Amino acid sequence: MASMPVLLLLLFFFMLFTLEEATHTTTENNNSSVIPLGSWLSPKGENTSWPSRSGHFAFGFYPQGSGFAVGIWLVSPSENTTTVVWTANRDDPAVSSKSMLNLTKQGLLLQKGKGDSANNIDSGDSESVYMASMLDSGNLVLYDEDSSVVWQSFDHPTDTILGGQNLTSEDGLISSKFKSDHSRGCFYLIMQNDGNLVAYPLYNRFSDLDAYWAPDSWNLAYQPYQLSLNIQGFLCLDGSGDRLCLYDINKNRKKSHSNTTSIYRATLDIDGNFRLYEHQFHFEQGTNTTTTSSHLEMLWQAMNDTCQVKGFCGLNSYCTSNMSGDAVCKCYPGFIPSKTKSVPIDCVQKHSKDDCESSEDRTLLYNFTHFENMHWGGVPYSAIPMMMKMEACEKDCRQDCGCGGAIYTNGNCHKYRLPLIYGRFQNDSSSTGSVALLKTPSTISIISPPTSNDTNMPKPKVVFDKKKNLIMILSLTLGVVSLICLVITTSIFFTYRHQVNRYAMLSESEKLGFTEECSLSSFSFEELSKSTGGFSEEIGRGSFGAVYKGKIGDNNRSIAVKRLEERIADEGEREFRAEITAIARTHHRNLVKLIGFCIEGSNKLLVYEFVSKGSLANVLFEGEVKLSWKERMKLALDVARGILYLHEECEVRIIHCNINPQNILMDESWTAKISDFGLARLSKRGHSRTKAEEDGISRYLAPEWQKEDASVSVKADIYSFGVVLLEIICCRRSIEMTDISSADEILFSSWVYQCFASGQLNKLITHDEKDVDWKILERMVKVGLWCVQDHQSLRPTIKNVILMLEGLKDIPVPPSPARLLE
Ligand SMILES: *[C@@H]1O[C@H](CO)[C@@H](O)[C@H](O)[C@H]1NC(C)=O
Ligand SMILES: *[C@@H]1O[C@H](CO)[C@@H](O)[C@H](O)[C@H]1NC(C)=O
Ligand SMILES: *[C@@H]1O[C@H](CO)[C@@H](O)[C@H](O)[C@H]1NC(C)=O
Ligand SMILES: *[C@@H]1O[C@H](CO)[C@@H](O)[C@H](O)[C@H]1NC(C)=O
Ligand SMILES: *[C@@H]1O[C@H](CO)[C@@H](O)[C@H](O)[C@H]1NC(C)=O
Ligand SMILES: *[C@@H]1O[C@H](CO)[C@@H](O)[C@H](O)[C@H]1NC(C)=O
Ligand SMILES: *[C@@H]1O[C@H](CO)[C@@H](O)[C@H](O)[C@H]1NC(C)=O
Ligand SMILES: *[C@@H]1O[C@H](CO)[C@@H](O)[C@H](O)[C@H]1NC(C)=O
Ligand SMILES: *[C@@H]1O[C@H](CO)[C@@H](O)[C@H](O)[C@H]1NC(C)=O
Ligand SMILES: *[C@@H]1O[C@H](CO)[C@@H](O)[C@H](O)[C@H]1NC(C)=O
Ligand SMILES: *[C@@H]1O[C@H](CO)[C@@H](O)[C@H](O)[C@H]1NC(C)=O
Ligand SMILES: *[C@@H]1O[C@H](CO)[C@@H](O)[C@H](O)[C@H]1NC(C)=O
Repeated sequence: MASMPVLLLLLFFFMLFTLEEATHTTTENNNSSVIPLGSWLSPKGENTSWPSRSGHFAFGFYPQGSGFAVGIWLVSPSENTTTVVWTANRDDPAVSSKSMLNLTKQGLLLQKGKGDSANNIDSGDSESVYMASMLDSGNLVLYDEDSSVVWQSFDHPTDTILGGQNLTSEDGLISSKFKSDHSRGCFYLIMQNDGNLVAYPLYNRFSDLDAYWAPDSWNLAYQPYQLSLNIQGFLCLDGSGDRLCLYDINKNRKKSHSNTTSIYRATLDIDGNFRLYEHQFHFEQGTNTTTTSSHLEMLWQAMNDTCQVKGFCGLNSYCTSNMSGDAVCKCYPGFIPSKTKSVPIDCVQKHSKDDCESSEDRTLLYNFTHFENMHWGGVPYSAIPMMMKMEACEKDCRQDCGCGGAIYTNGNCHKYRLPLIYGRFQNDSSSTGSVALLKTPSTISIISPPTSNDTNMPKPKVVFDKKKNLIMILSLTLGVVSLICLVITTSIFFTYRHQVNRYAMLSESEKLGFTEECSLSSFSFEELSKSTGGFSEEIGRGSFGAVYKGKIGDNNRSIAVKRLEERIADEGEREFRAEITAIARTHHRNLVKLIGFCIEGSNKLLVYEFVSKGSLANVLFEGEVKLSWKERMKLALDVARGILYLHEECEVRIIHCNINPQNILMDESWTAKISDFGLARLSKRGHSRTKAEEDGISRYLAPEWQKEDASVSVKADIYSFGVVLLEIICCRRSIEMTDISSADEILFSSWVYQCFASGQLNKLITHDEKDVDWKILERMVKVGLWCVQDHQSLRPTIKNVILMLEGLKDIPVPPSPARLLE
């Protein structure tokens, strides 16, 4: 009994505590920071800025260039510096000292000079502004009469997010141009709606190959929907159930001082690196004054080596670190900084005239400079595989007028055209043995590189440097090279004839996706035969061939091996490689990942990651798993996001052409993953049509696909998705409708439409189903019906499908799917 009062007491304290916390959070909207209508600022007037209550932030005019810009900044008293965290209309030119900023009913109006008309600075378009407030969090908010937010600067980030601010879907940060100029710079960090946070060079942002940083959130059960920085300094990717913290302040916390407050900000800096900073404000109570000192600390950065930032250096230049450890850009030998003052600075060839084409003897025209462990971006235009000597690679590039240089790695010679991009040294051990061979005109003397004590920085070395011995060396080298080539060719041909394919490498296999480990492996048929136990365990059979389970590697990683049928395999090897290269570049959580391949004669196999929970067909039609409506919606969205990636986000648009529940697979965490994409082009249309009929999957094919001559667009996939979506709702095969009596109801989509039109959605679900979420059901049915319209142009794009499913876009009432079909 004695515990009762203690419990009550605890409860009391708890209530006190929570009450205090509640009042603490509301003081932010305290009237002392209220800016009433009619207030105005000017750079030289009585008021140049509106400070927040704490005085840490201010909104107003700050000097930029020869004039002023309008923005929000953070004041650091002891360093007497300000840090701009937000800028209005950042790309506009600076305004004069005669300009004026008024808070009016229409928002914030900026008048650039006397007599000029006033323009709304990007603060919404409403007539309802009642007051504004500069909050202590650094957020400038405009309220209407009901104190609801009309506009806030937190919703329009520029290069920084502050504590309490989130970066949500499709929102991004764009770095500033210079420290003193906050107009848009070169780099872009975006929270993609596929859940990836990715950094790109701003003007090259649509290819995975250009991405230079993306935190690995693959082990999260739910895809992240935002990047958040909270006021305690946690920088995290939030999924709906869990999150991944890029910086966890609890793990890194040093002693925190009392009388110290901290303000956190995460900024995409001008060098393209994303960093988290802490501004500490320390208060000291003197006898008659309070002094405030501040201290700035960088807590975390995305990359320790700024040279990893693609686009940090301009064209034809490479990134290296100077003696103080900072990243610097240098032109390659034979190149000089371009006269156009671009940022970053591009380099151009010193001698533009080049008589390569007309020259008989190209051996005399070029020298090569070697850079050890150098890596180049972009895609080589030619990859000569297999046991080539470096001299042969050099020779090949020298003879080829289009060749600007080559990367030589373990017998492979990858040739690149000018301009060379993203050049940098790779220090990790994985890249040892690769040498960049840079072709330079021989008439110029190569400046020897600055002598550096830094052993990390490889020194370029000049290959030929003695004029006297030149001819001799050349002919000797040539002879030796030819001899070596001959020997190698012969030995390969005779001794390793059957193994040749083992060494065949894809041209881009070195650099696919974000990380170096993403490379595609080439397997021998024997290896795969062994790892699958002689193709004993068949786990599925798709339209392109049977799939077997296997294990590879020291850690017995499970794989799924797809053995392509001969009708597909008879396609040429070159086409086949091109297709799998495209497949291998895809990188998305809703797509099954390709690990490797094997080509040996007519045996063509693809090796995929093993996805453990089987296909959607099993889930839907075997009926062992009961799906809730939320789960069904998640499933549909997973598939749709996979398709969105294929259609709009990956480098080469991929039309799947064969979406059906058999090739939608479920992984451990019940995330749906699409497989078999990218293979459609390998098989002839007629083939796949008849094959689809045999397999009973023709119902997923769009009407135009079934016609011989019509061209096929992404809308064919939308149709297939629509049928799958309707099946996810009904959980049964679209042609096995037990309840259907009359013959004209056989067409699944028409039947669903009739149920919908007559308001009998209950007919679509099985009788024993409880807890039906009718809202989700109706939304899915409407979207499904739009997708299965016979007329291609009526079907929505996959992007709109997602918006409609998510409830972010209104769904009009769909017409009958077959209305336009005669
Ligand atoms: C601010 O002032 C207005 C009117 O003066 C008042 O209605 C409102 O309650 C005040 N808000 C706070 C948070 O004090
Ligand atoms: C604003 O908040 C401070 C501290 O919380 C308080 O002292 C002050 O009275 C408040 N002012 C108004 C007008 O509510
Ligand atoms: C300037 O600020 C003061 C106090 O912050 C205020 O009383 C005054 O009205 C302001 N002047 C203008 C022109 O907004
Ligand atoms: C801060 O800088 C301003 C002008 O830039 C100057 O007037 C002021 O004295 C400086 N304050 C301190 C504490 O250095
Ligand atoms: C801004 O306010 C000032 C002072 O009240 C006024 O002279 C000026 O005309 C106003 N400008 C606009 C565009 O409302
Ligand atoms: C940011 O996200 C958190 C949830 O993660 C939410 O509580 C908060 O209100 C969001 N902040 C803003 C400004 O939207
Ligand atoms: C914090 O400030 C109070 C008075 O404002 C002072 O008594 C105390 O010693 C300070 N604490 C520290 C750690 O500076
Ligand atoms: C206040 O500050 C002044 C100047 O720094 C100093 O001379 C004085 O002793 C301090 N104390 C009081 C009580 O004024
Ligand atoms: C950068 O260096 C720090 C300290 O050496 C280390 O803790 C951190 O993991 C490194 N970050 C990356 C991305 O390598
Ligand atoms: C290294 O580069 C940085 C940035 O360009 C520069 O500020 C620094 O002075 C350089 N250090 C040396 C030793 O060259
Ligand atoms: C290579 O460069 C050197 C100068 O470093 C030059 O003397 C030589 O002629 C060049 N080689 C050829 C083949 O032109
Ligand atoms: C660095 O190089 C300079 C000149 O190249 C040399 O004088 C100096 O001794 C070197 N320092 C070290 C630490 O090797």
